[in-house]
Amino acid sequence: MSLLDKFQRPLQNLRLSVTDRCNLRCAYCMPEQNYTWLPRKDVLTFEEISRLVDVFIGLGVNHIRLTGGEPLLRRDIERLIRNLADKPGVEDLALTTNGVLLEKLSERVFEAGLHRLTVSLDTLRADRFKELTKRDDLHSVMAGIDAARAVGFEGLKIDTVVMRGVNEDEMIDLIEYGKRVGAEVRFIEYMDVGGATRWSMDDVVSKSKMLDLLAEHYGGVSPVKESTCAPADRYTLPDGTVFGVISSTTAPFCSSCNRSRLTADGQWYLCLYARDGIDLREVIRSDASTEEIRSLLERSWRGRENRGAEERLIENDRKAFSSGELIDDPHFEMHKRGG
Ligand code: GTP
Ligand code: 5AD
Ligand code: SF4
Repeated sequence: MSLLDKFQRPLQNLRLSVTDRCNLRCAYCMPEQNYTWLPRKDVLTFEEISRLVDVFIGLGVNHIRLTGGEPLLRRDIERLIRNLADKPGVEDLALTTNGVLLEKLSERVFEAGLHRLTVSLDTLRADRFKELTKRDDLHSVMAGIDAARAVGFEGLKIDTVVMRGVNEDEMIDLIEYGKRVGAEVRFIEYMDVGGATRWSMDDVVSKSKMLDLLAEHYGGVSPVKESTCAPADRYTLPDGTVFGVISSTTAPFCSSCNRSRLTADGQWYLCLYARDGIDLREVIRSDASTEEIRSLLERSWRGRENRGAEERLIENDRKAFSSGELIDDPHFEMHKRGG
């Protein structure tokens, strides 16, 4: 029997941010000049993460996704992957990466038992990549995607945040690239979340606009009939190619949201937009028993009423954080909460 929150949503999907550091500076996530990183002593050890994950599994978590920042920057990440992959309750173990380090690390993480990979990639043009991420690394990401396929990863996904006037003209090229490398492309609406200090509704390309654009080029798109808790709505093109759209801004998926996120320093957030987290680092570093930790998690999930993205839509309460607010509380950053 699953543990349900106030809206009957089960606790199933845990996103583990393993570092807040990143080797890119994407315009929708880290547009500022300077960031302060978590002090090393605050970052959970693999042993601490593993112990917490065991309690989460006991309460129903069966999908785990490693995120960051950039999770491949965490030293010895394959040791954590091996530990998690060996846990009988973990049915799905995935990782979201920007791909820069994939060429070097694909083999290691595959052998450690990682099931699935999602690579964030917003453009196929080197000059644009540099402008968007402030690093000249497109070739590394593409080599990383090739390496991931070569070592045996199947079901690769590519996540593209679509921004008006920035990369909406590349949606078709990205779909074609996805076909060539055997990856499902998902187009994500630009969200007013975390470090997106330059966000404006004018820069959002809505799901319906994206579908119109693709239907016009390909001669139609049809929805895949499925019911899941996944954020992406999936569609097929006339040639059978499947792609997804994640419409967190104009049509959020809060009503089926089964996910929560643990930051690298052990704050547990019940929603991407939650103001406060629950400090599990303090708990795990105290002499709390497993039963006490379990009861805290259980109580918190039962009381969960969050539906941050829906509230923003309904109340039309849209406001990007200012850089000052983020300096005061960096936990609002996506690269801390896990994108
Ligand atoms: P699978 O469907 O299992 O492949 O995973 P996923 O789609 O959850 O993973 P991924 O990390 O690729 O998430 C895709 C994007 O969806 C993220 O980068 C965010 O833009 C958005 N997203 C992820 N989690 C949340 C969430 O909790 N709330 C909202 N509103 N958007 C989210
Ligand atoms: N809007 C949408 N998605 C975002 N991400 C980070 N910031 C945003 C934002 N403002 C997600 C993207 C990216 C992942 C690392 O985090 O999906 O691929
Ligand atoms: Fe889940 Fe909150 Fe995202 Fe809605 S905004 S989908 S409740 S994490």
